[in-house]
Amino acid sequence: MNDTMDKTNEKTKIKTSHKIIIGDSRRMEEIEDKSVHLMVTSPPYPMIEMWDETFKQLDERIGGTWSKLEVETDKRKKEKYVKQIYELMHENLAKVWSEAYRVLIEGGIACINIGDATRSLNGQFRLFPNHSKIIEHCEKIGFVTLPYILWKKPTTKPKYKGKGAFLGSGFLPPNAYVTLDCEFILVFRKGELRKFKPHDELRYASIYSKEERDSWFTQIWDVVGIKQTIPEVERRVAAFPEVIPYRLIRMFSVIGDTVLDPFLGTGTTTKVAISLNRNSIGYEIDEGLIPVIKEKVGVSSANHSIEFVRR
Ligand SMILES: C[S@@+](CC[C@H](N)C(=O)[O-])C[C@H]1O[C@@H](n2cnc3c(N)ncnc32)[C@H](O)[C@@H]1O
Repeated sequence: MNDTMDKTNEKTKIKTSHKIIIGDSRRMEEIEDKSVHLMVTSPPYPMIEMWDETFKQLDERIGGTWSKLEVETDKRKKEKYVKQIYELMHENLAKVWSEAYRVLIEGGIACINIGDATRSLNGQFRLFPNHSKIIEHCEKIGFVTLPYILWKKPTTKPKYKGKGAFLGSGFLPPNAYVTLDCEFILVFRKGELRKFKPHDELRYASIYSKEERDSWFTQIWDVVGIKQTIPEVERRVAAFPEVIPYRLIRMFSVIGDTVLDPFLGTGTTTKVAISLNRNSIGYEIDEGLIPVIKEKVGVSSANHSIEFVRR
């Protein structure tokens, strides 16, 4: 991680608690209304093949519609099924965004890392603009949309059919497509700006430097310094690099706040929240990830407690 560490001094070093709930975040009944200050998360991406199975398991209507799409021959009906699958995937994610809205405090921030998808379906290569669907849903729920970040992924190279360089028809226009080499970090606020008492000690202890402000509060994050050899499980779960939650937590929360990740994956958000003196709550539906999370977040210490809860 290139960024400098938090300027927490001993006076503001507080004991934090971290809860990891093995369960479905479409219901977050373990969390009280208005008790979370920040959400940092990256859901499974709709219409990206690696997440098809996850969505089918979340909602049987999705699997059912995929099956109909596979056997249908009428192009118009096929198109209808493609649209239904895409809508249903986002409908399921939106249940989590609604719960996030409920548990966030007034002025709380929600950061959602999402990539768009490209796919050939029904004989048609096209874009599924996941970021705009999520903005649409979150605005309907009541969130205020703030300027978003484009995370320029350094490892993405133009590809064709998953391998090699993408050349379209050689170098001839017009049938080549732009490569998706950015993901979005969408930023939303619940309600009005958050209020603090004058000279709030923890807020002042959470200050960032001018250099940090100048490089973080810009729209394009060219995040470098990520390990080139990503472990297999991190790749499988599409873990984000620690620098992403690190910056977002420093930008949008103060020491002692509670950070929520409803799609915890390998536990990156919890790990970073611990290091930054924030409390955290994470949900993960796949209990097979428990050992990976345990390895990443470590064990309780004098400064923080970690609790695993199975629903
Ligand atoms: C893109 S990964 C998150 C990766 C994570 N940011 C990390 O750094 O490891 C999405 C995760 O959400 C989990 N998931 C999907 N649907 C869920 C749900 N309804 N409730 C809880 N977890 C869910 C998946 O099992 C997967 O581990």
